[in-house]
Amino acid sequence: MKQFISVHDVANINALAKKALAYKAAPFKDKNLGANKRIGCLFLNPSMRTRLSTQIAAQNLGMEAIVFNVGSEGWSLEFEEGAIMNGTTVEHVKDAAPVMGNYFDILAIRTFPSLKNREEDYSEQTIKQFIKYAGIPVVSLESATLHPLQSLTDVITIKETFWETRKPKIVLTWAPHVKPLPQCVANSFSQWITAWGEADFVVTHPEGYELDEQFTTGATITHNQDEALKDADFVYVKNWSSYKDYGQVLSKDTSWMLTNAKLALTNKAKVMHCLPVRRNVELSDAILDGPNSLVTQEASNRVWAAQAVLSEILAPVP
Ligand code: CP
Repeated sequence: MKQFISVHDVANINALAKKALAYKAAPFKDKNLGANKRIGCLFLNPSMRTRLSTQIAAQNLGMEAIVFNVGSEGWSLEFEEGAIMNGTTVEHVKDAAPVMGNYFDILAIRTFPSLKNREEDYSEQTIKQFIKYAGIPVVSLESATLHPLQSLTDVITIKETFWETRKPKIVLTWAPHVKPLPQCVANSFSQWITAWGEADFVVTHPEGYELDEQFTTGATITHNQDEALKDADFVYVKNWSSYKDYGQVLSKDTSWMLTNAKLALTNKAKVMHCLPVRRNVELSDAILDGPNSLVTQEASNRVWAAQAVLSEILAPVP
């Protein structure tokens, strides 16, 4: 694996998930794989789980992880080709990224979208500029449109939880939120579950919240949440802002919050959320604190997903 930006960088999802679960069973089995190697983890935006789990994963492989909060501690970066830098930006990515490429063996980057300019966000300019100029493998810690480490985690959490021989029914449901959030987690989850191809996948949301079709092709899409939830084995809850009316909050309809009454429509579904979650806005206390919630297991699995990806980059399978 040369980079990890989306599901398209993965040759075999099941093999990568198996590798992640093998690390869960034996975290230190490859403790020398990353000896004398360094990963730089650049955060242009906040994080808790991604930051900690990636550092732990690197350390489990014997690799040194250096975290740099570029957004709050670094020079303000310019990404525009040919920019006349007489404004607020101090350093161009084409100068900063090659230096980082010399300091590190792998560069991992978190960068959120602006939610102001769809074309710009969906061009993934920031992470692509790092790929272009760093000259070393780049791992997405969540980019403008995707969150692949979260999605790999979600697949392994589903695989380790569902033991029946039939396909599980997985429902991605929109939930209300107080502010506009990126589409990244929903895009990425849809992209991975459809590429995985081992589930009946339904996406449900209010009108106007349709995701970019490139990520949802193959999914059943409905505005009827109750219908979607019927017989579900997994319900993945997430808010996202509108893709069509880009970055806008079109609904705060509280009836979309998953509750135990709605969960009764499902096949005793397990409930997933990437966290952080707004309690009693996106998901009720009763669900988050109840027996169907997978959120802690899911977040804990972030370590094994990151470890599998770093291991693939350090020692690609021929
Ligand atoms: N799920 C997730 O990416 O969490 P953080 O934003 O805390 O890293």
